[in-house]
Amino acid sequence: MTFIVNDNCIRCKYLDCVEVCPVDCFYEGANMLVIHPDECIDCGVCEPECPVDAIVPDTEAAAVKWVSFNREYSEQWPNITRKRDPLEDADDWKDVKDKMAHFDAAPGTGD
Ligand code: SF4
Ligand code: F3S
Repeated sequence: MTFIVNDNCIRCKYLDCVEVCPVDCFYEGANMLVIHPDECIDCGVCEPECPVDAIVPDTEAAAVKWVSFNREYSEQWPNITRKRDPLEDADDWKDVKDKMAHFDAAPGTGD
């Protein structure tokens, strides 16, 4: 199994998740993160850290479709391991659902 990041992260990118990951398997896009499914050791410690519930185990049916998406972008985007400030208007987007129309495939800066 693995944990994945879903579209709740888009335009928020709170980054509370990255520092707790023991294997540093988060990768940064311009406006969201993903988890590399083959690197995640399924420890689950990141899941409760996310304020918008964007991190979900793929044992939940709704998460299965996100595994290939997380794999695809984790192989293109830089690794991120340290928390920075969230996106400036993150709080305006935290209650918005179905945010794929706002997805930006450009890489983030990583660290
Ligand atoms: Fe990292 Fe554990 Fe979260 Fe997987 S479940 S991304 S290993 S903190
Ligand atoms: Fe995204 Fe939640 Fe992490 S908003 S950056 S998955 S803390």
